[in-house]
Amino acid sequence: MLQFDENTAKLLETAYQGADVSRRRRMALDALHLAAGEVVVDIGCGNGFLTQEIARAVGPSGRVIGVDPSVDMRAPAQARCAAFPSVSIEDGTADALPLQDGAAHKAVAVQVLEYLNDIPAAMREAHRVLLPAGRFVAVDTGFGTLDWFSEDEARMRRVQAAWDHHYEEARVAALWPALCRDAGFSAIEIEPFTFCDVTLRPDGIALMGLHLMSRYASENGHTPEKDTQAWFDEQIRLASEGRFFFSLTYYRMSAVKR
Ligand SMILES: C[S@@+](CC[C@H](N)C(=O)[O-])C[C@H]1O[C@@H](n2cnc3c(N)ncnc32)[C@H](O)[C@@H]1O
Repeated sequence: MLQFDENTAKLLETAYQGADVSRRRRMALDALHLAAGEVVVDIGCGNGFLTQEIARAVGPSGRVIGVDPSVDMRAPAQARCAAFPSVSIEDGTADALPLQDGAAHKAVAVQVLEYLNDIPAAMREAHRVLLPAGRFVAVDTGFGTLDWFSEDEARMRRVQAAWDHHYEEARVAALWPALCRDAGFSAIEIEPFTFCDVTLRPDGIALMGLHLMSRYASENGHTPEKDTQAWFDEQIRLASEGRFFFSLTYYRMSAVKR
């Protein structure tokens, strides 16, 4: 797994203000159907952008609990949400949430389930903390859908294979119906959404991927540094020549506690 350390937190901070990551959050927000006064748990809240947006949507009579095991992510989340007394950012994991049974109207996990080694335990835990008819929304990456142009396809495959080590589960969406059924959820829905770019926008998900994938591959010794650097440089060059292409599909999933 990627280390969500201080440096990663800084890189994500910039991209998270960009159009792509904002759109990803908006997909989650729309499916939550938030109302004033609701209690919402943001599982794996990261740097707290979504937590803050949820706080605005439920208003001062609502409550938002952001939960994350990483102190380097909780610190920016706490700072971002400081103006919202309705928000608390807490230490915890998806399979051991710091909430009583039936305490929340809604639960959300954006790009979190794919990193867990026991997703069924997280599903049961989300079910436990929700009220009856409470809604659970997740957004995860369709890792198998990445289509990224390179003139050196073998090297592209090596970088991609290295990246495959950083997550636990590539097929969260495909597993979603069974995960929901087994945990006691119904009204199961899945909607794909795609980021498809022909430019390497400074605020985009492709540039974030370029940095994170090359850093992860060389830091973890999955590919030689010179290989990933050459791939990185090639992408910058392709973009400057107007030959850049990147496409990646995410899935927004939702279900309701039976
Ligand atoms: C890709 S980030 C997503 C953060 C945030 N949800 C967002 O969309 O901006 C993944 C987050 O999951 C957190 N995480 C890792 N293991 C976790 C676990 N077992 N339970 C809950 N969160 C976890 C990480 O610390 C990190 O903040």
